[in-house]
Amino acid sequence: MLANPLRDPLDRRLPRVPEPCALVIFGVTGDLARKKLLPAIYDLANRGLLPPGFVILGFARRDWADGDFEIVAREAAQAHARTPWRDDVWARLSGSIKFVPGSFDDDAAFDNLARTLNALGESHGIGGNVAFYLSIPPATFPVVLKQMQRTGMADNEQSGGWRRVVVEKPFGHDLASARALNELVDDVFSAHDVFRIDHYLGKETVQNIMALRFANALFEPVWDSRYVNSVQITMAEDGGIGNRAGFYDKAGAARDVLQNHLLQLLTLVAMEEPTSFGSAEIRTEKLKVLRAIELPDDIATGTVRGQYQQGWVAGDRALGYLEEPGVPPNSTTETYVALRLGIRNRRWAGVPFYIRTGKRLARRVTEIAVIFNRAPHQPFQPADVELLGNNQLVIRVQPDEGVTLKFGSKVPGTTMEVRDITMDFHYGEAFTESSPEAYERLVLDVLLGDSTLFPHADEVEASWRVVDPLEEAWAGTVPFPYRAGEWGPRAADEMLARDNRVWRRP
Ligand code: BG6
Repeated sequence: MLANPLRDPLDRRLPRVPEPCALVIFGVTGDLARKKLLPAIYDLANRGLLPPGFVILGFARRDWADGDFEIVAREAAQAHARTPWRDDVWARLSGSIKFVPGSFDDDAAFDNLARTLNALGESHGIGGNVAFYLSIPPATFPVVLKQMQRTGMADNEQSGGWRRVVVEKPFGHDLASARALNELVDDVFSAHDVFRIDHYLGKETVQNIMALRFANALFEPVWDSRYVNSVQITMAEDGGIGNRAGFYDKAGAARDVLQNHLLQLLTLVAMEEPTSFGSAEIRTEKLKVLRAIELPDDIATGTVRGQYQQGWVAGDRALGYLEEPGVPPNSTTETYVALRLGIRNRRWAGVPFYIRTGKRLARRVTEIAVIFNRAPHQPFQPADVELLGNNQLVIRVQPDEGVTLKFGSKVPGTTMEVRDITMDFHYGEAFTESSPEAYERLVLDVLLGDSTLFPHADEVEASWRVVDPLEEAWAGTVPFPYRAGEWGPRAADEMLARDNRVWRRP
């Protein structure tokens, strides 16, 4: 049979649409399903990216029929979808929204789920293709995975199609628990059918790091220790911990976002060019960076932990961490962390990577600033270059998506005064289409079976090897207080001052 030229994977005119399939969501009543997953599915449908045979199946301990879940899903999509609401799009989805009630330890409920999936193969033409999304507390993974194993639900051969599993973070609590979790999942699914979500990798601006570096001639030649003075990665949030005390107080900022999002950002900035953009090739390069990460010699002075106290954020009064509902009054969990990492390879030897993240900071902003060395010689009067700083390339991950290049320019007039100016790229101005939500991209990639944007088990474990020694060194220490609405504890500024540097004000 002749291949259909319109289905050429290299042809960009046609979007990639998955094969007919079902997405089973465990934990469908949770925040993630309501705010991210269900809206992302609607957005994908609205953009014409779902196959004609597509089923959403919710599983939860609720006395619901299909219609009840359909109402919940519609409300969630209407409240949180990125793209405009269209009744006809929902009408096409709504006939394919199913619900199976049950608890995770209920064999009969899982037998029912397996039967339902088999029946959908025929009735909705999905064949045996099913992705299972575990949007549930990690403690419940073992029982759910065992149920899938027992019922043969995870078995590609038995199902006659593909079976995939999507695992949300946290991937363990430390290296040992991450290993145990990886073993457990790999025991039930084949390794290439496991998709671990780090939603930062689904962000357009994060994927653009590789385009910026490897599609252009301009940046890569200066991307090393000869030209780069330091790198600052900031993930600041203005929000507090909300109603997540139960999870957050046991995790803290390092386990919550350093182990995953921030180390992934660092990896993309520091990695070598992959031999191709295949997932295995990219993973190889990312792993080399993760394994070359060097912790400060003295963790006590090379890291700073902080905890927010009450204050004001954007004009509103904010509680201190210890006053948040569910937080033990003597908690020493950090809501802020700053640290200096090194990378042991020829490209980066001697270049500090400063990372900071915190809740209840002055505003929500994530950015990566590559700060270059000063020009080796300045043929100007010192007074003329007083206002000239280091050149900087700033990748603005969110919310103002774009890239800024900061460099010196002559101030118009009769003297040779040189001052910093910026050249800005804004996504909103450069492109007509707005960036998809991270979950839109990631859910689509799971259904397509493309694992490029998903951290592999090895990456997760290598990241815990960075965080575990920090946690060990921090045990028994008390975080520095900082007032909600400020940029973190003073100790973080002092840490940079000792290196003759300052934090960039995003
Ligand atoms: C999650 C963390 O992974 O990322 C949260 O658990 C954090 O604590 C969130 O608030 C931030 O995501 P984003 O996309 O809003 O930067």
